[in-house]
Amino acid sequence: MIDGKDTILTPVLGATYKEALENMLSHVEDEYDEIETVLSQDEVATYRAYYVDMPIRNLPPQLRRSAYRRYYRGYLRYIVNELLAWQGDPPSVLDAGSGLGTQSILFGLLGAKVQGVDLRQDRVIISEKRAARWREKLNARIDVQFTCESLFNMPQEEKYDFIWICQAISHIDPAEDFIDLAYKLLKPGGQVVVYDPNGMYLPNQLFQLKNRGTQIHRSYTTHKGETVKYAVERLFTFGGIQRLLKKSGFSIAHAECQFHRFRGKTDDAVFERFVRPLDFLPLWTSLIGYEFVVSGKKPT
Ligand SMILES: C[S@@+](CC[C@H](N)C(=O)[O-])C[C@H]1O[C@@H](n2cnc3c(N)ncnc32)[C@H](O)[C@@H]1O
Repeated sequence: MIDGKDTILTPVLGATYKEALENMLSHVEDEYDEIETVLSQDEVATYRAYYVDMPIRNLPPQLRRSAYRRYYRGYLRYIVNELLAWQGDPPSVLDAGSGLGTQSILFGLLGAKVQGVDLRQDRVIISEKRAARWREKLNARIDVQFTCESLFNMPQEEKYDFIWICQAISHIDPAEDFIDLAYKLLKPGGQVVVYDPNGMYLPNQLFQLKNRGTQIHRSYTTHKGETVKYAVERLFTFGGIQRLLKKSGFSIAHAECQFHRFRGKTDDAVFERFVRPLDFLPLWTSLIGYEFVVSGKKPT
């Protein structure tokens, strides 16, 4: 029970966003150590290249604590709180551009019915194998399935309570068309939650310029031989993503742009009192916020 109301929460990860995310990260660390037993050699290489910052447990205690804090204070806090507070039938979530499936599995562990979709077959196969391992390891019912497909080819009859777009709006091309599609795929009152680096924060743009050069719009050939448009780190600004959502008919239900300094260093009380409020100061954060979490709500 949360606030005297029944929730869909399974006890697998915990009752608060902090417990849920700390436990999730701890399970991901365990998985990282034994991933060779689940994936082929090539898949292990893909997985390890993707999670270059792992394992955290080898860091000195101070840095490890800091990494854990940044995780539970960061980009997943909003959607995890939404799922923990959900009433009634399990919410349905589309994880758009699901990558290796970690967040799909997290949402499944929080009781949601999850559909992960990604263009890349290697990533979808790894996601499926990981989900099977998590079910077995935690002896948990995780209602998650993965499909290898372009989001633009998805059947439009299925409607979702949430669409989660994590570090993927910078790749899905054209993004404007996908936001329009998201509107169609959501139930009335549903939310599209976008998390991405803030394009107004200059170091983010310089980093991408150094990595990918100036050619943003490219294409990707799928395992079926289909050529799909693909953008390489086309960063939206905190304000720009909100304008885009509004243009497609969404109202802004939540907007934060995270200030990175002191994020992992301070204890919880200091963080909540002095650092967290900075994420919600629009002028300040649109310039120096590192990454944003913005939710657009479809009218009921
Ligand atoms: C940077 S990854 C992020 C993955 C995951 N959300 C995460 O946070 O780990 C972006 C993903 O979006 C996928 N993607 C890009 N365009 C897509 C499209 N049109 N349809 C489906 N997936 C797409 C890519 O294949 C890639 O795995």
